[in-house]
Amino acid sequence: MENIMFFAFSCVVILLGSSRVNAKTVVSPSVSLTPTPAPAPASDFVNLTELFTVAGPFKIFLGYLESTKVIETFQDQANQTEEGITIFVPKDEAFSSLKKPSLSNLTAEQLKSLLLAHALPHFYSLAEFKNLSESNPISTFAGGQYAVNFTDVSGTVQLSSGWTNTKVTSSVHSTDPVAIYQINKVLLPKAIFGTPPPPSPAPAPSPDIAPVADIPSGADGDNALSPKSPPPPSSSYRIISWSILNYIVLAVSGAFISFL
Ligand SMILES: *[C@@H]1O[C@H](CO)[C@@H](O)[C@H](O)[C@H]1NC(C)=O
Ligand SMILES: *[C@@H]1O[C@H](CO)[C@@H](O)[C@H](O)[C@H]1NC(C)=O
Ligand SMILES: *[C@@H]1O[C@H](CO)[C@@H](O)[C@H](O)[C@H]1NC(C)=O
Ligand SMILES: *[C@@H]1O[C@H](CO)[C@@H](O)[C@H](O)[C@H]1NC(C)=O
Ligand SMILES: *[C@@H]1O[C@H](CO)[C@@H](O)[C@H](O)[C@H]1NC(C)=O
Repeated sequence: MENIMFFAFSCVVILLGSSRVNAKTVVSPSVSLTPTPAPAPASDFVNLTELFTVAGPFKIFLGYLESTKVIETFQDQANQTEEGITIFVPKDEAFSSLKKPSLSNLTAEQLKSLLLAHALPHFYSLAEFKNLSESNPISTFAGGQYAVNFTDVSGTVQLSSGWTNTKVTSSVHSTDPVAIYQINKVLLPKAIFGTPPPPSPAPAPSPDIAPVADIPSGADGDNALSPKSPPPPSSSYRIISWSILNYIVLAVSGAFISFL
C-alpha cells in the first residue's frame, strides 16, 4: 500500500515538474495580423467613379482617369467579374509632392500608359501578394513593358515600378472582383522615365510592418512611422490554468499523504 502511494506521489511530482516546464516553454506564437479582406458576398456592380469620389482623397488620380478615359477601361474590366481588377491609387498628396519628374510634359499616350500601369487586370486580395511576389515581374494593365515587382515584407505589400518604390498603405476596397489599394507615391514606369538617379545617401528608413490606414503628417510616410508589431497575445491564461491544475494535484496528493 505504501509503495503504491509513494508511486502515485512520485507520479504527481513528475507531472507537476513537467507541467511547469510546459507552461514555460509553450510560448504562444505571435499572430501576424495580415489584413484579410472579408469574404466576398454576392458581388454587385462597383461604380469606380463613385468609389474614387467617396473614398480617400483621390481627386487628382480620378481627374487623370477621366481626362484620359482610362476610367472606362478600368470600369469595363471591373464589370468582368470573373477576372476583376486591382488598382493602386496614389492619394492626392502623392501628386502634389511629385516635382522632379513631372507628369505635365508627358504625351497623352504616355500619361495613359502611366495610369494603366497602376492596375492589374485581375483581382488580388492583399493575402495573395506574397504568392504573386514569387512571379515577379508582374505585367500591369499597360503591358509587360510596364511591369512592377512586388515584395511582401511581413504582410506589407511593397511595389516597385523601376523608378518608384512604394507600398500599400491601406485597402480602400477589396471585394472580388474589385480591389483598390492606396499607395504613397505615383508609380513612374521605367519605360517612360528610365532609371532614377542614384539616391543621395540618407538615413535608412525603418521598415514598416503593419499597413497603416492613414498618415496624419504631410510626410511621405515611409519614414514617419515606427515599426509596429502586434503585442504577443497574453499567455497568462495558460499559466493560470496550469497553476489551478497544480493546485488541485497538490491538494489531492496532500490528501493522500495525510491519509498515510
Ligand atoms: C457612376 O457614378 C457616377 C458618379 O456618381 C455617375 O455619374 C455615373 O453615372 C455612374 N455610372 C454608372 C454606370 O452607374
Ligand atoms: C459596367 O456595368 C454597369 C452596370 O451593369 C453598366 O451600367 C456600365 O455601362 C458598364 N460599364 C462599362 C464600361 O462596361
Ligand atoms: C519632361 O521634361 C523634363 C525636363 O524638363 C525632361 O527631362 C523629360 O525628359 C521630359 N519628359 C518627356 C516625356 O518629354
Ligand atoms: C501561387 O502562384 C502560382 C503561379 O505563380 C499558382 O500556380 C498557384 O496556384 C498560386 N498559389 C496560391 C495559393 O495562390
Ligand atoms: C524587377 O526585378 C527584376 C529582378 O530583380 C529586375 O531585373 C527588374 O528590373 C525589376 N523591375 C522593376 C520594374 O522593378
